[in-house]
Amino acid sequence: MEFFEVLRKRRSVRRFQDRPVPRELVEKLLEAAFLSPSSFNKRPWHFIVVDDGEKLKALSEAKLGASGLATAPLVIVVTADEGRSDVWVEDASIAAEHIQLAAFDIGLSAFWVQIRNRMHDESKTAEDYVKELLGIPENYRVLCIIGVGYPAEKKPPRENVTEWGKVSLNGFGREFRRGEDEA
Ligand SMILES: Cc1cc2nc3c(=O)[nH]c(=O)nc-3n(C[C@H](O)[C@H](O)[C@H](O)COP(=O)(O)O)c2cc1C
Repeated sequence: MEFFEVLRKRRSVRRFQDRPVPRELVEKLLEAAFLSPSSFNKRPWHFIVVDDGEKLKALSEAKLGASGLATAPLVIVVTADEGRSDVWVEDASIAAEHIQLAAFDIGLSAFWVQIRNRMHDESKTAEDYVKELLGIPENYRVLCIIGVGYPAEKKPPRENVTEWGKVSLNGFGREFRRGEDEA
């Protein structure tokens, strides 16, 4: 798919067909992640592919707003070694977005489940819940879980996502006029 078509048509899908994702496509998603830029090229990430039914169900209970994972045949848990990079959040976020965009490009759908800074229940963070479930080492942080699969719902592209009022020229709040070069 043409790159801007991917950008325009990608939507978060939270219901998936009961159909496995072929291994070669899973590898494509990971290749997309490996192509991400990262600060000082430190590449602090580690990705955990989960396709085990019981673990997927448990992940769908990681927090409120994770239930969409219940029908996903596969997820990629995006983690990073915080000792390796002080900007691991940014590095891992870019990799997670590469995975989402690549999924759409190859006919799959995906959505992001936020784990960092979220709670599982009153006493446990969603991050600790996921770390315990998957045996993630102490120094690794969990950013998010990307649910992946063949979509069981159709979502239209977002039309007219124009936010030119959120763009300034040469100083915050100074109008950026479309179709005009700077005078
Ligand atoms: C940082 C981040 C956290 C998100 N967390 C969740 C989440 O926990 N659960 C969920 O269902 N969707 C989550 N989403 C998906 C957003 O709800 C979705 O991207 C947004 O509503 C826009 O819809 P679209 O992706 O279809 O354009 C998250 C997206 C981002 C970027």
